[in-house]
Amino acid sequence: MYYTLAALTTFASSAAAIGNAVVLNKCSNTIYAWSVGSSVGAKQTIATGKNFTEPLHSDATSGGIALKITAVDDGLYNGAAQQIFSYSLDGASVWYDLSTAFGEPFLGKRVTVTSSGSPSIEWPTGSNPGGSQVKVGINGVDVVFTGCA
Ligand SMILES: *[C@@H]1O[C@H](CO)[C@@H](O)[C@H](O)[C@H]1NC(C)=O
Repeated sequence: MYYTLAALTTFASSAAAIGNAVVLNKCSNTIYAWSVGSSVGAKQTIATGKNFTEPLHSDATSGGIALKITAVDDGLYNGAAQQIFSYSLDGASVWYDLSTAFGEPFLGKRVTVTSSGSPSIEWPTGSNPGGSQVKVGINGVDVVFTGCA
């Protein structure tokens, strides 16, 4: 397939309107993240003050994407507590959720999922406060998980 320069420019500018899923680390320790759909992405090592960013996308098989976050290196593979920030695109909307598995890696720390202009998920002590955590935002606006917010 061949693209003209004009087509590429159009593509680039439309791509810029796509929102991102962001994992932002404000903790004093390094955290680790994997983007999981029907397959598991590469380990992302996120130092203090840094973030991992991927364009919001769907998986052809799993539909939604789970960003699995641990406070332990290789945590996805060694049974460490996981924070799971998941999202799912639905037309003009993006659904986002926060959960844990195998423990609570941010216990005692505040964690949030925010998207400008839409409802936030807030766990003041890193523990699930109960009730549905699912929120809906706008496809095209960044959805940001913050550890130690
Ligand atoms: C993520 O990191 C990039 C590159 O350093 C930076 O430009 C961006 O503002 C950061 N995003 C957030 C939400 O901190």
